[in-house]
Amino acid sequence: MDIFTLIKTRRSVRKFKKEKVPDTLIENILEAGRWAPSGLNNQPWRFMVLGKEKKDALAEYTKYGYIIKSANKIILVFLDKDASYNYEKDLMAIGACIQNMLLYIHSEKLGACWLGEILNQREQVQKELEVKGSFKLEAVLAVGSPLSLPKQGRRKTLKSLILK
Ligand SMILES: Cc1cc2nc3c(=O)[nH]c(=O)nc-3n(C[C@H](O)[C@H](O)[C@H](O)COP(=O)(O)O)c2cc1C
Repeated sequence: MDIFTLIKTRRSVRKFKKEKVPDTLIENILEAGRWAPSGLNNQPWRFMVLGKEKKDALAEYTKYGYIIKSANKIILVFLDKDASYNYEKDLMAIGACIQNMLLYIHSEKLGACWLGEILNQREQVQKELEVKGSFKLEAVLAVGSPLSLPKQGRRKTLKSLILK
């Protein structure tokens, strides 16, 4: 798939087959994230991967718990505050890291959904996972093999996005 088609056909996937996502692919997903750009190349992202033994406990902390339950793997993305130099720019870098992972996931015909609502219960999630110190949860990705092909996406027209 060419890069333009890849970008345009990526969709959030919220229902998954029971199939396992191989560990090698999970490693490649993180590798795609690792190569994202960051301010001063500070690479402030940190990752945690949860499989079926641990992931379902997270479902209690978001109204999108059904997505977590359906997914085969969960990737949590943290900001390492010790690596931070500018909070705004660090968050942008983490966004780039996540988009790299989402595009790689799509290129492998897997699916994912970026879950942000769960951050409303960040403290409780971090307590559940015993994450301490300098790490701040910024995003959760539910990953798996898509149950069906998602519908075509909708976007504002390009014209409406360009300032005059
Ligand atoms: C920062 C952020 C937070 C999001 N949080 C959630 C979420 O909590 N639950 C959910 O179902 N989708 C979530 N999404 C996915 C968006 O709803 C989705 O990207 C958007 O509707 C566009 O659809 P598409 O990804 O299929 O193109 C989130 C996306 C982003 C970028």
